[in-house]
Amino acid sequence: MTDPDPRTIEDAAALLRAGRLCAFPTETVYGLGADATNAEAVLSIYETKGRPRFNPLIVHCADLAMAERLALFSDPARRLAQAFWPGPLSLVLPLRPGHGLADIVTAGLMTVALRVPDHELALALLRATGRPLAAPSANPSGKLSPTTAAQVRRGFGGKVPVLDGGPCAKGVESTILAIEGERLIQLRAGALSREEIEAATGVAVERAASGAAVSAPGMLLNHYAPEARMRLEATPRPGEAYLAFGAATPFAGPTLNLSESGDLREAARNLFAMIAALDAEGARTIAVAPIPRSGLGEAINDRLQRAAAPRD
Ligand code: TXA
Ligand code: MG
Repeated sequence: MTDPDPRTIEDAAALLRAGRLCAFPTETVYGLGADATNAEAVLSIYETKGRPRFNPLIVHCADLAMAERLALFSDPARRLAQAFWPGPLSLVLPLRPGHGLADIVTAGLMTVALRVPDHELALALLRATGRPLAAPSANPSGKLSPTTAAQVRRGFGGKVPVLDGGPCAKGVESTILAIEGERLIQLRAGALSREEIEAATGVAVERAASGAAVSAPGMLLNHYAPEARMRLEATPRPGEAYLAFGAATPFAGPTLNLSESGDLREAARNLFAMIAALDAEGARTIAVAPIPRSGLGEAINDRLQRAAAPRD
């Protein structure tokens, strides 16, 4: 039986405490939440998303104190948390003995990815539930991440209750960092730019070498697949749809502009919803304008490349 959408934070917290799923908004994308200490509840995240294998999930905390009960923070880790939480930064940290998380949250790893989301409803829900919440993006595996409650409902055919918080402010997922001594290794580009992290820490952020032992195992190439083929850094051709950026090439077909003023924050916020909207127009191919690679452009280009990756 499907639970109805929660009308209040308390309704949503009650579902989660009872081991049910509830999707909720964060500043990045909507998450499909479950009590991270309840193995059955976490298992139903994998089933509902159809995740092909058990990729570890990000665990959301109400604050640094809750996070410190789950993982061991080195000094650099704590400084990063203090600088950027609440915010779109997930830290991969060693599990603390006695953490209480279900093993399948971390897929049996010795580490856990933690973050404190910068969203009033998410924080209120975490406080009301009183438990860490495992929450991957609230989309069926391999599909676009949702940035509105309506997209979550469409993705799961209305079978998952959603706490509606309107559109997400950032629009791309959190940046994932592993910390090794003083070294910072970016496992996933995301809504917090490398430049912001470097400016705050004075430490150069390294890119994870592909195939390295430390990696974000969920970063499968084909992870953001729309139905349409995507042609990147392209000028649109007749019959295609066009995802423009900045001053657009004049085009007669279906067109959406990520940001007419060329603002990367606005583009990140619009990215998944605009790909989904053009996809829904039924075009076989979406031509995507070139997007600069600096700042949030790194995460935007990363998601576009995944959406454009060849598939069967
Ligand atoms: O913005 C976000 O991060 C969103 C919102 C809902 O918070 N969540 C999200 O979660 O994107 P998900 O499950 O779609 O992505 C989790 C990523 C995966 O690529 C996974 O492999 C990586 O985090 N990950 C989780 N735990 C890890 C660990 N212990 N070591 C390395 N990578 C880990
Ligand atoms: Mg995802």
